[in-house]
Amino acid sequence: MMQDQLPAGLIPTLRIPAMPKDVNNGGSIFGGWVMSYVDIAGSIPAELRAMGRIVTRAVQAFEFKKPVYVGDLVSFYAHVIKEGRTSVTVQVDVYAQRIKQGIVETVLVTDAILIYVAIDEKGHPRPLPPL
Ligand SMILES: CC(C)(COP(=O)(O)OP(=O)(O)OC[C@H]1O[C@@H](n2cnc3c(N)ncnc32)[C@H](O)[C@@H]1OP(=O)(O)O)[C@@H](O)C(=O)NCCC(=O)NCCS
Repeated sequence: MMQDQLPAGLIPTLRIPAMPKDVNNGGSIFGGWVMSYVDIAGSIPAELRAMGRIVTRAVQAFEFKKPVYVGDLVSFYAHVIKEGRTSVTVQVDVYAQRIKQGIVETVLVTDAILIYVAIDEKGHPRPLPPL
């Protein structure tokens, strides 16, 4: 069977196991749990690029491709795909890994694109610093 692979040579921005407390009525993991960690993971490269405070401004795309189950090890890979004057656009790819009959199965479960804005001490947009 063809299966997804973790992105080669990249270190995940976040890794966390899915717990029983995060299950929805249908038995898989609540979408809001995934969304929350996607936002946290995405904010990490955005904050590093902005060299300071940022806020989430918009979610441009968010697709739950496959379910996440209790016990899955969930890895979030976040990287900057676009920069504007004050905004940073980040792609987040989420993989679940589960052990089935002695084999680690890897599944691309979610991908998303989020826009963060660098803000100053008054909460107003500020230009990104030069690289
Ligand atoms: C972030 C905030 C300070 C921006 O203020 P604003 O008046 O919208 O600022 P602007 O219209 O100048 O937009 C700022 C940047 O965001 C981008 N942007 C705004 N709305 C966008 C959208 N819907 N999609 C993509 N980009 C968007 C603009 O293009 C601009 O980018 P650029 O400077 O790189 O060209 C303000 O919207 C805010 O405080 N929002 C709430 C943030 C928050 O609390 N997030 C957590 C939610 S719980």
